[in-house]
Amino acid sequence: MIKSTSAHKEYTVNLDERPYSIFLGRGVVSSMVIEVLKNKTANKDIVILFDANFAEEIDDILRLQLIQEGYNIYLYPMEAGKQNKTINQAIKIYELLETNNLSRDSTVIAVGGGVIGDLAGFVASTYLRGMNLIHVPTTITAMIDSSIGGKVAINFRKTINAIGSYYHPILSIIDMDFIKTLGIRDLRAGLAEIFKCAIIADKELFEYLKTKSESVFRRDEEVLLWIMSRAIEIKLNHVSGDVQERGKRLKLNYGHTIGHAIEVSTSVLEEVYRHGEGVALGMVGAAYIARKNFSQNSEILDLHEEVLRLYGLPIRVDAPAIGFDRMSLIDDCMINVQKDKKRKDNKLRFILPRDIGKCEVYSDISETMIREAFEYLIRGDK
Ligand SMILES: NC(=O)c1ccc[n+]([C@@H]2O[C@H](COP(=O)([O-])OP(=O)(O)OC[C@H]3O[C@@H](n4cnc5c(N)ncnc54)[C@H](O)[C@@H]3O)[C@@H](O)[C@H]2O)c1
Repeated sequence: MIKSTSAHKEYTVNLDERPYSIFLGRGVVSSMVIEVLKNKTANKDIVILFDANFAEEIDDILRLQLIQEGYNIYLYPMEAGKQNKTINQAIKIYELLETNNLSRDSTVIAVGGGVIGDLAGFVASTYLRGMNLIHVPTTITAMIDSSIGGKVAINFRKTINAIGSYYHPILSIIDMDFIKTLGIRDLRAGLAEIFKCAIIADKELFEYLKTKSESVFRRDEEVLLWIMSRAIEIKLNHVSGDVQERGKRLKLNYGHTIGHAIEVSTSVLEEVYRHGEGVALGMVGAAYIARKNFSQNSEILDLHEEVLRLYGLPIRVDAPAIGFDRMSLIDDCMINVQKDKKRKDNKLRFILPRDIGKCEVYSDISETMIREAFEYLIRGDK
């Protein structure tokens, strides 16, 4: 169900037995959190896991208002970036929860991008077999994607989101004000996930994006609200009835099989590609495979490259420029692509576009074809 006024939009999400709201608006974080907490729990203990970027703002965003209402607040600032979505971080938060004797009806609030949200969700879902969770996503990736649908996880060794579960929050609040401070790179990375939604399910959104890059980069609130709402609706539509990803939800992984392999293979010491940048590269790779496999669709790859380039997203990896030997990186990608979580019966499953707005799941893509896609994407001297 969607309730909407010019100032805000609210979705009621029914993905398990406990419906909750996703609220899009501005300047509403603390009032919404307090309202929902009062309705859902009498427990006053709260851990706020937040992106250390907001160290100066966290008092104003939430902490002082919650203290005024009599809540006990435990702050846990942490660095974002996928190298921090680890079991070691989770253990530190478990220690904070255990030392302060938080209980099942206490609440974990995540204020940050997808890394903070996934980690907070993972901890909230596992500590005492489940605490209350509230998402306050602060990147576009987190607003339209990671905070919705209940996937919570940490990375483990070379496998992205290796350990995790499905766990829904009691509230998610998207405050558009956070977009104002996003760096251009993170704005673009979030837009990659919006392109993903358009390519798998919404040609109109794709066409709209083609004409609106200037307004998007100006952070025109009306345009952002429109495209983000469409992406949220596509996400909810694909997740509803398939939370555990056995059917239509798989399509939301468009671009992720190749993208994750590139993300992992390049992140040896530190993050080279943001998640959204990996997804952009992965979509180009998938479109390349689609063009090769369905010759009627020769335009599809050009359309991807045109629009991703327009938004400043990567469409090739320049191996030497990021300190890699091209052939070794391709070999590593071929190893890491096999770690994809969507594997079934020992076969990779690829989501491939048949047209803009239409895609299907395929499990018969040959290793030769996958390698060819990496060779197309990854450039270098040799
Ligand atoms: N659970 C899911 O369904 C799902 C879906 C998509 C992505 N993810 C996960 O999300 C993660 C990527 O998310 P992300 O790109 O948000 O990463 P992130 O949390 O690392 O944030 C990216 C960068 O943006 C900064 N930042 C965050 N909010 C800001 C703001 N308002 N202003 C200025 N800077 C800000 C962070 O400090 C960081 O440098 C990956 O780990 C990915 O696996 C999960």
